[in-house]
Amino acid sequence: MFEPGGPTFFELAEQALSSTRKGYDLLAPKFDKTPFRTPDEILAPVAEWIGDFDRAVDLCCGTGAAMAALRPYALEGITGVDVSEGMLAVAAGNLREAAGTAPVRLIEHDVLTWDGGEAYDLAVSFGAFGHILKQEEPAFFDTVYKALRPGGRFVFVTGRNPGPVHPGWWAARAFNAAIHARNLVISPPFHMYYLTFMWPEIGDKLTARGFDVRLHEGLFEGRLERVLLVEAVKPDGVRGE
Ligand SMILES: C[S@@+](CC[C@H](N)C(=O)[O-])C[C@H]1O[C@@H](n2cnc3c(N)ncnc32)[C@H](O)[C@@H]1O
Repeated sequence: MFEPGGPTFFELAEQALSSTRKGYDLLAPKFDKTPFRTPDEILAPVAEWIGDFDRAVDLCCGTGAAMAALRPYALEGITGVDVSEGMLAVAAGNLREAAGTAPVRLIEHDVLTWDGGEAYDLAVSFGAFGHILKQEEPAFFDTVYKALRPGGRFVFVTGRNPGPVHPGWWAARAFNAAIHARNLVISPPFHMYYLTFMWPEIGDKLTARGFDVRLHEGLFEGRLERVLLVEAVKPDGVRGE
């Protein structure tokens, strides 16, 4: 499951017994050797599909994988926001070596309360939706909406909700139940759940928040062919809210 040099079982257990933020601080030095880092075979086609942009923000940027993929297309700059100091420290090192010349900025902040001030024409987020609780989704959507300029777009990948006919759905529900049980008996909580931000539910929620939502299929092939790309555009001529 992990590359050589990745975390040991005990290190992962220690992470899972910490808060979400502290857990990532602990995992940060070895995070890039885990399957939790979004792979370049997803990030590279998405970055190419997006093409040139002025300013982007990567919400929950982690060690900067998506920022590195997007940087060659950035005309003005790219910002990463993450709550984990440890992950941002690794991102800073990774981005020093990343292709492209656009300025990079890293901000330590909870994305649920971050105000991007309508400064960005592109927002992305990868591999982090499992950390956003259902009751936190409106705050996350607000962050995206407020970060984008009118006409700006939020781009991310997801999958179709498999529903209870699929064994994977039951496995994911069992995992989620185990995390809920863990959080009942262990404090601080560690939040990571599967089957969040799935299509079509996420499209309906973003539409309700005021985005124009478009689904793009067929960007990936082979074992990734079920991955969907979602583009949620903040309507032009709309400010604030
Ligand atoms: C699985 S990692 C994904 C990192 C990176 N986006 C990637 O795809 O490789 C999840 C990241 O989300 C961050 N995170 C979780 N909850 C957050 C929050 N509320 N605000 C900011 N960052 C958060 C964690 O610190 C971690 O770096």
